[in-house]
Amino acid sequence: MDITRGIPKLYILYYNRSGEEWRANRSKLGKQLMPANVYGYCPGFNKVARRFIRNVYDVQNDDGFVEDARDLIRYWSLEVATHFVYGANLDCRNDKEGLAKELQDAVGGLLDCIFDLQTTLPLFKIFPTKAYKDFNKNMDKLIEIGQVYADKYSSDIEARAAVSDEKFHGMSLLEQWLIEGKMSTKDAISHSINMLGAGMDTTAHTTAFVLYSLSKHPKVQEKAYKQITSVLGDDEEPDGDSLQKMPYLGHLIKETQRLYPVAPFVPRMLDTDIDLLGYHIPAKTTIVPGLEAMGQDPKLFKDPLKFNPDRWSTDDIHP
Ligand code: HEM
Repeated sequence: MDITRGIPKLYILYYNRSGEEWRANRSKLGKQLMPANVYGYCPGFNKVARRFIRNVYDVQNDDGFVEDARDLIRYWSLEVATHFVYGANLDCRNDKEGLAKELQDAVGGLLDCIFDLQTTLPLFKIFPTKAYKDFNKNMDKLIEIGQVYADKYSSDIEARAAVSDEKFHGMSLLEQWLIEGKMSTKDAISHSINMLGAGMDTTAHTTAFVLYSLSKHPKVQEKAYKQITSVLGDDEEPDGDSLQKMPYLGHLIKETQRLYPVAPFVPRMLDTDIDLLGYHIPAKTTIVPGLEAMGQDPKLFKDPLKFNPDRWSTDDIHP
């Protein structure tokens, strides 16, 4: 099945769309992305986390140091994302079927091409440039993989549509969307590709900087450890309830994102004219809110370069 016939494959990534078209697509993602549903994946995420820790022990040197954890973090994020989206159970370091590598290459290749397609002269609209061809090749691979999972879940779909919300808990996103029936198989696959494209590097980047910040700030590390051990007993794994009792972990992630945001800016094109801080900005202008610069602005954050997760424990975080 060619799910992209008649439309450029770039268009499958709905976050490239805007206005009502974006809203119509975004609204279909629904309750699956709400915390109550996401907590249902904790058992699978815990399994991936245990594998990550085993891998860290495997690669550490005699002094207990890991020279370069980037690959392990990327494996972790790929395993988490594919578990969430497809219910897959990948083991990237022992990738016997080669599926993990195929996925990693295709998502990585896609992101490289998007940057090129979005930031250079759009010659691909006139003839197929290298970035455009590579983009399509990677997209074809992701569609093929998405289709395999969709076929796996499509049998018996009507009978399973009768399942209660409770039984939905922990089912892959793709499976939930197909059972719910609010979107076609084609849309469900294209949304699953959106999720992989948006969810993998972002999570890996943020986690790498959380670990970096913990290593640079032993007191923060100690506080996080104490909070975890005060909530979880020996060998007990986190779930939705216990995570809600560990707000310091949320503050730690927020503080990391303030100083090391994965997206340093989030451009928007204005629908209408606006007046902002005494400037008149006409419709159709692209404005670029600079998250990284805002995160380090002393007018917005006291001692902005200080890594202090506690600043998020109160609503009054500003100077
Ligand atoms: C720490 C991890 C993550 C960070 C820092 C992050 C960051 C962001 C940012 C900055 C945007 C752009 C927002 C904008 O321009 O308005 C975005 C959009 C998006 N992210 Fe994430 N993200 C993360 C994880 C994920 C995950 C795990 C998924 C899916 C499984 C995901 C799916 C999306 C989608 C679908 C969009 C487009 C939203 C829309 O236009 O409606 N993200 N993310």
